[in-house]
Amino acid sequence: MSAGSETERGIVVAIDGPSGAGKSTVARQLAERLGYLYIDTGAMFRTVALCVQRAKIILDDEAALAALCRDLEITFVRQDGSYRVLANGEDVSDAIRTPEISLLTSRISTQKVVRDVLLHEQRRMGRAGNVVLEGRDIGSVVFPHAEVKFFLSATPEERGRRRFLELQAKGEKVTLEKTIAEVIARDAQDEQREHAPLRMADDALPIDSDGISVEEVLNVMEKVVRRKELERKVSA
Ligand code: DC
Repeated sequence: MSAGSETERGIVVAIDGPSGAGKSTVARQLAERLGYLYIDTGAMFRTVALCVQRAKIILDDEAALAALCRDLEITFVRQDGSYRVLANGEDVSDAIRTPEISLLTSRISTQKVVRDVLLHEQRRMGRAGNVVLEGRDIGSVVFPHAEVKFFLSATPEERGRRRFLELQAKGEKVTLEKTIAEVIARDAQDEQREHAPLRMADDALPIDSDGISVEEVLNVMEKVVRRKELERKVSA
């Protein structure tokens, strides 16, 4: 991308980090505060996983995976104040959030063919800027020139505890120990995969969400983005 086109488009905010660090909550609320578009890239990988499960595709079958991704249209819509994910028009927002789909998604996201298709799609969705994208590789791979990059993390115990409470509230039969173990297993899979592993971009601002409120995290993030917006105005 040329320097010219980068200054013409709006600001891209990348929020990366491990599962359960609170990315979705802060990314969504930050986008609302800023009036930016919000893109949950994890939901895109989850949607592919759900469709793979339904179609009973074997993970090594690259041709079948590629065909599925090609025929799949993922869209985000806002409905009654919440974000819904549609797979070829079907609302899959709840179906993609089960523990089973979480684990399958982590495996699916190791597949290059899936990453390539979604990378292209994420760049297309974010290219106009004024957008907050959350995921694992936004600042390092998808938008390496993003103006603002955050890496949000917390200890596996804290992230597991949060996920446990979320699942419990939904009536899922889970235990705290198992949920923490699943968080650790997913971290390992996300960090060790060959293609676009979870890692902090060199120029990202690390934020540890252990013991600080969503509000405090949001205030820090908003300040950084507002400063960037101001810098742009001044230099325009
Ligand atoms: O953020 P999440 O828990 O909804 O993400 C689900 C899975 O998708 C997670 O195991 C890692 C993967 N993922 C990815 O590989 N790259 C992204 N940009 C976003 C998610």
